[in-house]
Amino acid sequence: MTGEIIIAPSILAADFARLGEEIAAIDAAGADWIHCDIMDGHFVPNISFGADIVKAIRPATKKIFDVHLMIAPVDPYLEAFAKAGADVITIHAEAGPHLDRSLQAIRALGKKAGVSLCPSTSESALEYVLDRVDLVLVMTVNPGFGGQSFLASQLEKIARIRSMIGERPIRLEVDGGITRDNAAAVAAAGADTLVAGSAVFRGNSSADYAANIAAIRSAAEAGAARKLHDGSAPPVRTAERMLLR
Ligand code: DX5
Ligand code: ZN
Repeated sequence: MTGEIIIAPSILAADFARLGEEIAAIDAAGADWIHCDIMDGHFVPNISFGADIVKAIRPATKKIFDVHLMIAPVDPYLEAFAKAGADVITIHAEAGPHLDRSLQAIRALGKKAGVSLCPSTSESALEYVLDRVDLVLVMTVNPGFGGQSFLASQLEKIARIRSMIGERPIRLEVDGGITRDNAAAVAAAGADTLVAGSAVFRGNSSADYAANIAAIRSAAEAGAARKLHDGSAPPVRTAERMLLR
């Protein structure tokens, strides 16, 4: 699960009355993964949708379903999301006391396992579970709502996690307030998988979505290239400069 930049539009920003059509539109527009934000009104202060909706929209695309569970407790619902068609299931480190057990349960269901950290959570929460995960998701807003502003404080965490990951086949995803203006910075810091809701679903046609996805992708690719070639400063400093530009 490593390599190229992946763009994962969050359908939280789609028109829910036309969810199937919206997913087909982002598929045609070049989305790599489909990001599904599941909110329970308890772990986060908002409710979105559940496993039945994921199951209903699954036939709309063949692309990977990247399911982000912002729910607590999480264990009782893992099987339902696996059966609904999730490919990657990401849970929050803050959502329960037995992160290691929950991650094992996701892999036992035959799915890729992800762990997410809220902005105030240290990367040290990952230290003893890195060999159990396929993806780390750094929240670049406080989870619960689309359309919030990117938190630049997370660039340093992204860079630290990139070095913790080392050669492991783990994707490093960012989620929240991602736009064409900060995509280069997060990629320079080490992110390779970018979730974007509002910045993708701007406009109302597949052509608009395609232009939005392409702009985020090309900025991220430019940022990733800087990370590889700019040996002059630690990745986080390079990333911060790109943000201020
Ligand atoms: C926030 C969600 C995000 C959010 C992204 O809790 O996890 O996926 O929908 O939306 P934007 O890109 O609008 O911040
Ligand atoms: Zn999300």
